[in-house]
Amino acid sequence: MLNEEAGASSQRKSLHGNWTSRLAFILAVTGSAVGLGNIWKFPYIAGQNGGGAFVIVYLFCVVLIGMPVMMSEILIGRRGRRNPIATMKLLGEEEGGSGHWQLVGGMGVLAGVLILSYYGVIAAWVVAYVQKSFSGVFAGASAGEVQAIFDSFTGDWIAVTGVFTLFMATTVWVVARGVERGLEAAVRFMVPALLLLLLALLGYSINSGSFGAGVAFMFTPDFSALTWNSILVAMGQAFFTLSIGMGAVMAYGAYLPQETSITSATSAVVVADTGIAILAGMVIFPLVFANGLDPASGPGLVFVTLPLAFGQMTGGVVFSSIFFVLLAFAAWTSAIALMEPAVAWVVEKFHESRARAAILVGGITWILGFGTVFSFNLLADVKFLSGTIFSNVDYITSNIMLPLGGLLITVFAGWVMCRNSTAEELGGAGASYRAWRLLARFIAPIAILFVFLSAIGVIDLTGK
Ligand code: PHE
Repeated sequence: MLNEEAGASSQRKSLHGNWTSRLAFILAVTGSAVGLGNIWKFPYIAGQNGGGAFVIVYLFCVVLIGMPVMMSEILIGRRGRRNPIATMKLLGEEEGGSGHWQLVGGMGVLAGVLILSYYGVIAAWVVAYVQKSFSGVFAGASAGEVQAIFDSFTGDWIAVTGVFTLFMATTVWVVARGVERGLEAAVRFMVPALLLLLLALLGYSINSGSFGAGVAFMFTPDFSALTWNSILVAMGQAFFTLSIGMGAVMAYGAYLPQETSITSATSAVVVADTGIAILAGMVIFPLVFANGLDPASGPGLVFVTLPLAFGQMTGGVVFSSIFFVLLAFAAWTSAIALMEPAVAWVVEKFHESRARAAILVGGITWILGFGTVFSFNLLADVKFLSGTIFSNVDYITSNIMLPLGGLLITVFAGWVMCRNSTAEELGGAGASYRAWRLLARFIAPIAILFVFLSAIGVIDLTGK
């Protein structure tokens, strides 16, 4: 079925089917982008890195680096129409570069599996919180009580493993069902519904009495507090939250109909993703200050602030349950994207069925996931480099592998691919094409390199 002597990209076909419409693609990429990165990770790392200045750097990274990297990834994916490894090899050779570009795809496949190994565990916390919310344990609970519930659940590795296994199994199931039936169906209602609930929560946090303090924390930059490490973390977060630098968007681009505009699809996704992150921050930080909590408390931040807020609301039991259900869905659509490059690769390379490939990749990820499960209990005291096993996997993937992948992807699209190929994919040589090319050839790679080089040596692996 693979068209070995593929000619122009428009004649190539994806082995895995196509999105049924432009909207379906936007929803799928948005579904991959909007996830735990926006609602769980963004608030806690912004909190750990001092707030305002970090948020500004993050926003700059989204626009100047995130947009061009995402466009490059989609256009490469659509032109190659294969899994990220095969696409990079094929285009590398076709564009007069080298087949070794497949290593970029390989790093992406690996990064996806590594990220999913901890992402699935945090998603399991979310799923467990659906049940906890529903049971009413948060109703009227104090900050100390909510914290204790969080600590005792994450400390119980058997309970976490149970939910983690369930989450991975459902992810494998959707991925096995394939592009149209599995992925599309899951994202259609999730993003709008999540947005609505966040807006409702915003109403609550505005009335919390500390809205001003929370918003000031997020938007008043104190650049003296910024270290090169926190700039690297902000850049890593831009990559993580947009799902770029590891081939997920490239894999999704391979299923994109030829006539869809990559530029407008990218803009829609970036606006939705960034909007949701900022909204989450505006909900979380006022609650942190209203309850005398510490914004730098780490991965437990939203698992304490949100139940606390819900616990004090009328109808909180219902809202809280719905919120965590939606967040679980958001995590799920991201988990699917994290798996897709590896699964597409196994299917094409070893001629396996999607189902078997998904089970294999899911199984490997599940085993790796114990590193994170145990980071909050049995192995909580095992610390090296940036901290626990979990924080190391997170640090290395988000702050090193994704930006490095993004750097190589923009260099490939901007310098190795010929102008005609990229212009063809991006719909002609107009102003937006020229802006992309300037960003992809110069601004983004130089900015990434600069942050990398500045952070080397001054990298503070304590994770602060
Ligand atoms: N963007 C997702 C989130 O913010 C995580 C993700 C990263 C998904 C990379 C796919 C690829 O939760």
